[in-house]
Amino acid sequence: KTIYLKDYTPFGFTVEEVHLTFDLAPGATRVKSRIRFAPRDGADDRRFFLHGEDLTLIRAAIDGKEVQPTLTAEGLTCDVPDAAFTWEAEVEIDPAGNTALEGLYMSNGMYCTQCEAEGFRKITYYPDRPDVMSTFTVRINGDLPVMLSNGNPVEQGEGWAEWHDPWPKPAYLFALVAGDLVAHSDSFTTCSGKEVDLNLWVRPGDEGKCAWGMEALKKSMRWDEEVYGREYDLEVFNIVAVDDFNMGAMENKGLNIFNSSAVLASPETATDANFERIEAIIAHEYFHNWTGNRITCRDWFQLCLKEGLTVFRDAQFTADMRSEPVKRISDVIDLRARQFPEDNGPLAHPVRPESFQEINNFYTATVYEKGAEVIGMLKRLVGDAAYAEALDLYFARHDGEACTIEDWLRVFEDVTGRDLGQFKRWYSQAGTPRLKVEEDWQDGTYTLTFTQTTPPSAANPEPQPQVIPINLGLLGPNGDEVKETETLEMTEARQAFTFTGLSAKPVPSILRGFSAPVILDRDSSTAERAFLLAHDTDPFNRWEAGGALARATLNAMALEDAAPDAAYLDGMLAVLRDDTLDPAYRALMLALPGQSELAAMQAEAGHTPDPMAIWTACETLRQALAQHAQDTLPRIWETCRIDAPYRPDAEQSGKRALAGAVLSLITRLDGGALAASQYGSADNMTLQVSALSCLLKAGKGQAETAAFYAQWQHDRLVIDKWFMLQVLQATPETAAATAKALTEHADFNWKNPNRFRAVLGALTGNHAGFHAADGAGYALLADWLIRLDPVNPQTTARMCAAFQTWRRYDAGRQGLIRAQLDRIAAQPGLSRDTTEMITRIQGN
Ligand code: ARG
Ligand code: ZN
Repeated sequence: KTIYLKDYTPFGFTVEEVHLTFDLAPGATRVKSRIRFAPRDGADDRRFFLHGEDLTLIRAAIDGKEVQPTLTAEGLTCDVPDAAFTWEAEVEIDPAGNTALEGLYMSNGMYCTQCEAEGFRKITYYPDRPDVMSTFTVRINGDLPVMLSNGNPVEQGEGWAEWHDPWPKPAYLFALVAGDLVAHSDSFTTCSGKEVDLNLWVRPGDEGKCAWGMEALKKSMRWDEEVYGREYDLEVFNIVAVDDFNMGAMENKGLNIFNSSAVLASPETATDANFERIEAIIAHEYFHNWTGNRITCRDWFQLCLKEGLTVFRDAQFTADMRSEPVKRISDVIDLRARQFPEDNGPLAHPVRPESFQEINNFYTATVYEKGAEVIGMLKRLVGDAAYAEALDLYFARHDGEACTIEDWLRVFEDVTGRDLGQFKRWYSQAGTPRLKVEEDWQDGTYTLTFTQTTPPSAANPEPQPQVIPINLGLLGPNGDEVKETETLEMTEARQAFTFTGLSAKPVPSILRGFSAPVILDRDSSTAERAFLLAHDTDPFNRWEAGGALARATLNAMALEDAAPDAAYLDGMLAVLRDDTLDPAYRALMLALPGQSELAAMQAEAGHTPDPMAIWTACETLRQALAQHAQDTLPRIWETCRIDAPYRPDAEQSGKRALAGAVLSLITRLDGGALAASQYGSADNMTLQVSALSCLLKAGKGQAETAAFYAQWQHDRLVIDKWFMLQVLQATPETAAATAKALTEHADFNWKNPNRFRAVLGALTGNHAGFHAADGAGYALLADWLIRLDPVNPQTTARMCAAFQTWRRYDAGRQGLIRAQLDRIAAQPGLSRDTTEMITRIQGN
């Protein structure tokens, strides 16, 4: 069944208050609800329908009198009075049998919930839609030491606890946690002087992995006060770490629930990248308190209203805590790796989709990351001051409401007087716009003519021109900036911009800072790219110039058997040697473009990408770079030495990142001697992982792999890395077999999403391995998706996306993938989640 945005109708009732009582028992939890409903003024639909799934109804009553509702597969209907009434229901649910990890479920003997998007209906009968908001009072009866829900604690005694959340919220923000937990506690004084208790709840044994998450939380709280003027609004803020979780984390009001991988860290067990991700996710969930919770979404089509904005806010936070250019470059790498394939394949959908079958399938890179890009463009177009004013108006005008993208854009229109009608197409049109550039130089006048096209897709058959902010700078022939960055506002399909008063033909630096999520299509020369790599004052575009050189030489190597380009090798050597550049930035420069991204480029240029040829080209280029930089590598390695105690901050992480990049090159020259010695002396996980990765990549490291397992056997999050690295670093020929062997390992708990992804997700991330010509990678993934689907549809459906690029490849691979898609589709009882994904990928 497909749900459409255009069919939105408000609920006929308001909910004044909700009282819930939980009698916890693993296989048979009783949930009693007492809910005050009132007819909503002006509503014409008086049908009383409550969502409910997998519930056993014990009894229902209205105003104290027992009633017999009509039960359907999706909920119930009931005759109700014309005036306000009290609904009571008692249901029984089975948390222990809930493997889908949606609703109330159990993880390691601990009760926890995940209600976004539509999980609350698996807890009790309720209008489970985000535009129905109410205060909640929750009583939990059970014999567990710690029992938590949203809001503030009211009272607790032996075997019970009561919570009250004074802020009206939709049911998707409901949460309950109960278990044997210990707290890492701290406190925060808000800008108006209120003291907030902060707790990070973990399983006994994980206390030593909480300090960083707590630090990140306090930084986030301060930052949101200082930058957005947003103060926290409850007496307590609780975070809980859970091992079994489908996504990263969840912003439940006052009770955030986190995948333990997204919050637990210690220097010995987590890498710098883990620390940075944790800081960002803590911030993200905390920022949702205002952008998501106080102001929520009218319906799930508006998901980007909270997610795009909150991703944008967490990116600003990370840029402030760390390096702005490094954060920007990392985000663009991620956007190109995850969002571009989505936007340019069978799963393409607008930032605000217009229809869906299963909303969980729309927690996508397009809604989140492109959604954040759209906000970045809006800020660029209106300017920082107007952005700040518009946000103030947004919070003032819509606090306590469930809103739409129209509400969001209107605050910008009201503040600036701008008409955002055309800009709104970023929310309604799918597909990545291509921006073609032509240049002209005549009598001192320089003209750039841009043409934008968005390829038509099923989701977007007749794309219209979008508003594209193009940040442009011009460089003179000797490398000095002759025109500083200016935002050109492109609104037409084809549009020219003219610059006068120049004494020589400039070199353009286009789309600085990646000012719009588009594909820049410009046939520039190797010489010009090398020039920009050496001289561009915009760090993003300087990195981009290095990337353009890499892509050009890799494509020529893969498609025409060309030799590595000397301009690339010289340019990289110069960057590597330039000690004025941030080490983290140099590490990003040295990384090659993704192999899947290269395949996409080749396909777009009319070639049939050969994953093996792409892999070989990357190997050859890395080897050539290692040889070219041979004399410099040991010196750079030395400059990355850290004598201070471990800190996962930007400075130390950057040095370790550069050292890791250098180590991977040195390993190509010394056969793994340095990596083995680093492994032996490593006293933090970043060094351990970088050494082990290099060794595995070199086809070595057997002893280290075994030692790693022996050392970390007791630590799930570290063992996830052990599984993942072996698959990621396997050669194309051995990746599928390696993954298969690991699925037979005693520790492969496939019902745990982190562990499942560590093996099968890593396989799909090994481009040439996954796409091995014999189809073993495809078959292995399909086998496991078929097995997981009845247990956990959400995680299965997400991982189907690995097949979305299938039409890029040759007929042989297409046939192999098609056969797997058909095999999955033919499974009896396939979930709605997976059915929707497979059908869309198949394109029928
Ligand atoms: N709102 C959460 C976040 O972005 C994501 C939770 C989505 N979960 C789901 N099962 N769809 O932080
Ligand atoms: Zn979010």
